[in-house]
Amino acid sequence: MNQPRMGGIATLNAPVYVKQQKLINWVAEIAALTKPERIYWCDGSQAEYDRLCSEMVAAGTMKKLNQEKRPNSYLACSDPSDVARVEDRTFICSAKKEDAGPTNNWTDPAEMRNTLHGLFDGCMQGRTMYVVPFSMGPLGSPIAHIGVELSDSPYVAVNMRIMTRMGKAVYDVLGSDGEFVPCVHSVGAPLAAGQKDVAWPCNPTKYIVHYPETREIWSYGSGYGGNALLGKKCFALRIASTMGRDQGWLAEHMLILGVESPAGKKHYVAAAFPSACGKTNFAMLIPPAGFEGWKVTTIGDDIAWIKPGADGRLYAINPEAGYFGVAPGTNDKTNHNCMASMRENTIFTNVALTDDGDVWWEGMSKEAPAHLIDWQGKDWTPASAKETGAKAAHPNARFTVAATQNPVIDAAWDDPAGVPISAFIFGGRRSTTVPLVTEARNWVEGVYMAATMGSETTAAAAGQQGIVRRDPFAMLPFIGYNMSDYFQHWLTLGEKLAAQGKAELPKIFCVNWFRTDADGKFVWPGFGDNMRVLKWMLERLDGASAASVGGVEHLFGVTPRYADLSWEGLDFSEQQFNTITAIDKAAWQAETALHTELFEKLKYHLPQQLADVKQTLEKRLAE
Ligand code: GTP
Ligand code: SPV
Ligand code: MN
Repeated sequence: MNQPRMGGIATLNAPVYVKQQKLINWVAEIAALTKPERIYWCDGSQAEYDRLCSEMVAAGTMKKLNQEKRPNSYLACSDPSDVARVEDRTFICSAKKEDAGPTNNWTDPAEMRNTLHGLFDGCMQGRTMYVVPFSMGPLGSPIAHIGVELSDSPYVAVNMRIMTRMGKAVYDVLGSDGEFVPCVHSVGAPLAAGQKDVAWPCNPTKYIVHYPETREIWSYGSGYGGNALLGKKCFALRIASTMGRDQGWLAEHMLILGVESPAGKKHYVAAAFPSACGKTNFAMLIPPAGFEGWKVTTIGDDIAWIKPGADGRLYAINPEAGYFGVAPGTNDKTNHNCMASMRENTIFTNVALTDDGDVWWEGMSKEAPAHLIDWQGKDWTPASAKETGAKAAHPNARFTVAATQNPVIDAAWDDPAGVPISAFIFGGRRSTTVPLVTEARNWVEGVYMAATMGSETTAAAAGQQGIVRRDPFAMLPFIGYNMSDYFQHWLTLGEKLAAQGKAELPKIFCVNWFRTDADGKFVWPGFGDNMRVLKWMLERLDGASAASVGGVEHLFGVTPRYADLSWEGLDFSEQQFNTITAIDKAAWQAETALHTELFEKLKYHLPQQLADVKQTLEKRLAE
């Protein structure tokens, strides 16, 4: 199947089931540029996955974990320089700079093509180029979109098989003239004849480039996560958000969950939290003691595509087929469903290896094992960690697992029609200022809350951590066009739906699970106990008629009183509650000053409606 290269160009060898000449020509064109040793067309089969994993084990890229402890699972450890998304190397190369907007890096597309042409010339020498066909969304569904990623990384090929619907069935959907988003990826580490490979090839020079007008993605230099699995952030958010702008729908950094009450009433909600701020955990939440009969089920844990339906409601699908989730902090208590999901058939990246061939990370158990091999391949003991501060697992260590392994996957998770959304939740990681939960009084105020959201930076992106930055809609690193135009898109969608008058607009809430006390400890127990807040929101949706589902109006919305939440099974005093719900005027004056700074930056095309909300808020604060 894999014929060696002849006369300087690898044999194309397209399988007979690939019926599209345009696609074959494009593969040939990229091969001529990047000059791989071989071209391999992925069929998506289990046998192919197993073979690629064994090859990576032989090459030292992966270790196979103990078959009894963690069946069919692997550990990959990256180069220490390639552990997270690289936001400062991510570019939106629209024809006009204004269309990328002030929050994105922009370079003129012709200039960028020139730069990339130089970098990609010969960049796959000595390697195999994998042709990875994938569908974001159920195969053949009218809402799904197809992509083909050409990558010189087998790690990318196997992860794409878990994260997307990947394989030869995609070519049937594509037919002879179907559309696909071309995605070119290289780790940027060509091999000279006879040169020995390293375990994790990558390049200190990195480019993650999007051309919104021609819907193309080019990624160079990294093998990690969102930089390399191009169906995820690059396609399903950055490129898809521009499709949504043009076609009247939304591509969002949101989990989608179903929640059913003991009475059998079911709602779906979508929630946007920035990277490493709790989406996977919220999507798989287990209701605590006292909530018997409540059921939470998962549609998706990271990305939602949302379209208006004929009935005037918004319908959401999860375009992904797997979870690329944060390992540290995950344990049987905080997220039992997640631990159950990764019992087998899982790829772990940058976690620690135990002496019996299993995995460990900070927060998996109270006591660390007596000895580990850390994510950088070094001996690790609790004592050595105390001395040097070295983490056994990288803080952005991740697992890749198929959605179907989630014990609480929702029955409709794969439904091409999507699920109707009753509420949107926005939340950041804020140790101060932002209360536990606030309900926006209307769509415009909700959009304002989402637009001005701040969050402390995490290990999911390279750079300094714990710095509060504005992260509108949790989309700062993922919006494929001008942020102000995106705000307007949300406002316009709300206006259109309201004008139809067919259905209530989803309610919008803002949450913060991360307020800390004087010792820097989280006050709110979080995780399963977030159900208490979710229940209040649902009661607000179903009508605040009952006295028990009240709330009070404050500066910018409605918050529950202590008595409005259910406290059964949790020892949490009214005083503790007050410390995470109180609104401090001085803190909010400082906060609105940051809104002003943001709006100043986004003033080109900033919707007047949002400026008006800010003015009202400032007036109330001054009273
Ligand atoms: P991405 O995959 O990067 O988009 O992250 P995510 O939003 O899915 O975040 P995830 O659920 O993986 O959580 C990230 C970290 O926050 C993990 O270490 C969790 O244990 C922790 N976390 C999640 N939910 C809560 C919560 O309610 N309270 C507290 N204190 N920590 C939480
Ligand atoms: C995120 O950073 O929001 C992620 C992980 O979900 S990555 O796929 O690396 O973008
Ligand atoms: Mn994410």
